[in-house]
Amino acid sequence: MSNYALFRSFPAMSDALPRAVLAELPTPVEKLDGLAADNVYVKRDDQTAPYYGGNKVRKLELLLGRAEADGVKTVITFGAAGSNHALATAICARRLGMDCVSMLVPQVNARSVRRNLLMGMKSGAELHHYGGRRGVALGLIRVQIKRRLRDGRAPMIIPPGGSSALGAAAFVNAAFELKEQADAGLLPQPDCIYAASGTMGTVVGLLLGVCAAGLPTRIVAVRVTSPPYTSPEKARKLFAETNALLCAADPAFPRVPFPEDRFELRDDFLGPGYAVYTPESVAAVQRARDCAGLRLEGTYTGKAFAALLADAASGAIRDRTALFWNTYNGRDLAPEVEGLDYRALPGAFHRYFEEPVQPLDT
Ligand SMILES: Cc1ncc(COP(=O)(O)O)c(C=O)c1O
Repeated sequence: MSNYALFRSFPAMSDALPRAVLAELPTPVEKLDGLAADNVYVKRDDQTAPYYGGNKVRKLELLLGRAEADGVKTVITFGAAGSNHALATAICARRLGMDCVSMLVPQVNARSVRRNLLMGMKSGAELHHYGGRRGVALGLIRVQIKRRLRDGRAPMIIPPGGSSALGAAAFVNAAFELKEQADAGLLPQPDCIYAASGTMGTVVGLLLGVCAAGLPTRIVAVRVTSPPYTSPEKARKLFAETNALLCAADPAFPRVPFPEDRFELRDDFLGPGYAVYTPESVAAVQRARDCAGLRLEGTYTGKAFAALLADAASGAIRDRTALFWNTYNGRDLAPEVEGLDYRALPGAFHRYFEEPVQPLDT
């Protein structure tokens, strides 16, 4: 019997979707006490794996599972300088004996950027920093040619955030996992799930998953990026692509029209932009730590939790069961990178260590 919830419901899928076992599933669900609302739970995806947690490990099980099955030697991925996704890809690729090349672009400075860069270096990733999209496009051609010559085969390209249909399918599984936990009485069926939306794979996978698994849940996608990374059009497109992938993997999987009434895209917690901490996100990080011992951060989970706290305070989720999906890695990387010298990184990254971090990152 598979320990992947989606494969228990659709056994034919396990052949079409090879999984590299990187996560320890299911992740726990816990009740959150001490908030303004009574029925708030948390899905502990910060604990997806003991070596590195967070939402990306789920996606990488299917993305790198496909890479492994295809005999890929190098994966190339993209993100901002402090990308959790790029770091997760480096760590997981190395565990599976693959190389990772990360093509990164500028972002607002934070201590987490420094930690992630050092940890990426320690994980053996080849890190490149480009000024923008044009630089990435040209750099990609160069890296692809070099790796093809070296590996004797093409590298696999993993999109930003791992949010292809295959990556999102891992969050369809996550919704089936949640349904099993609700069936087992670990929590009531949630009325709503709050999660950060960066590249949309998490929220769109969950949306398709709750529909297919028969949960009555609405997804509250808290925007932490601007279009094209998060947009209603992107949600529809990725939803349809993920649905098509799963129907092709097992024709018994249902075809689901995009459920407009069960998807809410929240724009009110982004603040000035991606990776800029806001007073609300900083306060939410503090509240999560003080009330529940959760370790959140200001770019993604702080903003999503701030939305939940605001709805709890306004009474919008009174008499409802709300689930906060904790997508941030829970493992403290500080001891791992202590003593590492940033000057071993390519010169373009040094400024993240030499310039101050943003004022709200205290
Ligand atoms: C901690 C954290 N939460 C949430 C997200 C957003 O997930 P997604 O890119 O699937 O929208 C990311 C990644 O971008 C992340 O690193």
